[in-house]
Amino acid sequence: MAGTDAFEASNVGPGRLPSAPLPPDTASYIGANLPLVPVPSRPDIRLHLATPSSGLSRQLGNAVPPYWAFCWSGGLALARYLADRPDCVSGLRVLDFGSGSGLVAIAAAKAGARSVLAAEIDPNGAVAIGMNAAANGVVVDILRTDLIAAPIPDVDLVLAGDTFYSASLARLATGFFDRCLDKGLRVLVGDPGRDHLPLDRLRELARYDVADFGFGGMSSTSAAVYEFG
Ligand SMILES: C[S@@+](CC[C@H](N)C(=O)[O-])C[C@H]1O[C@@H](n2cnc3c(N)ncnc32)[C@H](O)[C@@H]1O
Repeated sequence: MAGTDAFEASNVGPGRLPSAPLPPDTASYIGANLPLVPVPSRPDIRLHLATPSSGLSRQLGNAVPPYWAFCWSGGLALARYLADRPDCVSGLRVLDFGSGSGLVAIAAAKAGARSVLAAEIDPNGAVAIGMNAAANGVVVDILRTDLIAAPIPDVDLVLAGDTFYSASLARLATGFFDRCLDKGLRVLVGDPGRDHLPLDRLRELARYDVADFGFGGMSSTSAAVYEFG
């Protein structure tokens, strides 16, 4: 994926080492070092996002990339889509798989979802999601269980922003989304066209030019929202 030079993307995902909490504690660290800023393409949503002076890589090293401290182009496309098409989540129980900062979960809540569950295996990310949801005045439940090997929660719709960034996660996520389909759930994916995106399983619904924060620096990229099937 673009802009991941500071971190090794394949270190994230099932089986990886758990991330260490940030000192003195994750919430205090985020509050002090990651400013709450409007999200490009969705300025009505504000997130605690990393800046070059946040010092995250110094604190965490390269072992566990802080995906939660950035918003990703796939998530931005989904967040834009939910603003344009709130009918696709309105009144539904929504799961945001690989929630990161909670961007897509927050967008779903703002679009009128009945409930929103944000699944994120990074414990620091789980803290960030809670802080970001509160900052936007929405309720998001947080699930730290790795759903790849767990029962699917009781939801109606699954959203996933930028979860095909490594071959292993792409394979595992595809298996999870297949289980969701088997259960009769709709699965919407946001992605800028990462190498491991299973295009043969996806039908494009919308495409947007969005910011791609990646790690360090902002550029514009095209990202799409797809129906997985
Ligand atoms: C590239 S980030 C995208 C974050 C967010 N959806 C967005 O678009 O801004 C992918 C996220 O998926 C999370 N992740 C990876 N494997 C996961 C799993 N098995 N269950 C839940 N989250 C997972 C990572 O920790 C990371 O926060």
